[in-house]
Order: sequence, then C-alpha cells, then structure tokens
Amino acid sequence: MEAPSVLFVCLGNICRSPTAEAIFRRQLEQADLADQIRVDSAGTGDWHIGSAPDSRAQSAALKRGYTMKDLRARQVNIDDFSRFSYIIAMDYTNRDNLLSLANLSPDPIAKQKVSLMLSHHDEASLEEVPDPYYGGGDGFDYVIDLLERACAELLTNIRS
Ligand code: 4NP
Repeated sequence: MEAPSVLFVCLGNICRSPTAEAIFRRQLEQADLADQIRVDSAGTGDWHIGSAPDSRAQSAALKRGYTMKDLRARQVNIDDFSRFSYIIAMDYTNRDNLLSLANLSPDPIAKQKVSLMLSHHDEASLEEVPDPYYGGGDGFDYVIDLLERACAELLTNIRS
C-alpha cells in the first residue's frame, strides 16, 4: 500500500494549518515515523502565498516547543488531491472549498480524502478549529490545545 500522506488546510496557511503541520511533524518524529508519513499544509486563499506563519502563531507554538519559522504559505491546488491521502480542513468553509476543488481532480476518490480536523478529536465540543487571526493572543494557545489532541488521534487512526 502507498505510504500515507497528510495535508492540513486552512484559509491563509499562516495560522491554523502550519501549526497543525508543526505539531503533527513532531508527533511523527516522536513515533519514529517521520520518514514514512509525508506532511504539508496549504491555504484555500492566495493572500499570504510565500509568507512565514503569523508572528503570534509562531510565538504561541514556540512556547510549546514547536518551531515553524521556516514554513512558507502556499495555496492548495488540484494536484494536492492526487499527492495526499488525507486532506484535512480546519473549518466548514475550507472543507466546502476543498470539496468544490475536488470536483476538478482526476482522482476518483478525491472527495473521500477530505475531512474536518475536529472529526479526528473525540471530545471536542466544537466542530471547527476557530480562526485566531482576528482575535487575541490566547486564541492561538487554544488552537494548539485542539490541534495537539486531534493530531494525536489522527495519527492513531492512520496507524491502525
Ligand atoms: P488561517 O488564518 O486560515 O488559520 O491561516 C487566517 C489568516 C489570514 C486571514 C484569515 C485567516 N486573512 O484574512 O488574511
């Protein structure tokens, strides 16, 4: 079977999805799976292409030991549906945009690859990862709490 691969997707690719990428990457390293599961992140929007993650997201992540200063935003594209086996949206709007884009993919299971991040979190009281971009600093800490748990469960599901 082809090795699994994971693409995290949000709107700008500067707050939620690069944070998920950094968290999942470290969990893969801790599980000694970094060379077996490919991980990346992208945004549905194009405003921040080429930018490093938001400085507030970087500070919150760094406090918890995650470095993401070298990540650069990119926009999701049709080829991503062939290149990744799990395409994980942070909120319903991202999910719906991905499902529309999946219609253009030649991959017959493109739509089945798309899921919501918090569908991988058994105890989340929310269905969407809140967008911290317009909020205060503690929004970023809360996003990390949600993502750490959801990423751990995602990894467990992928391994089984
Ligand atoms: P993200 O957050 O989707 O988690 O990266 C946002 C980043 C930028 C914007 C909105 C959300 N923006 O409107 O520029």
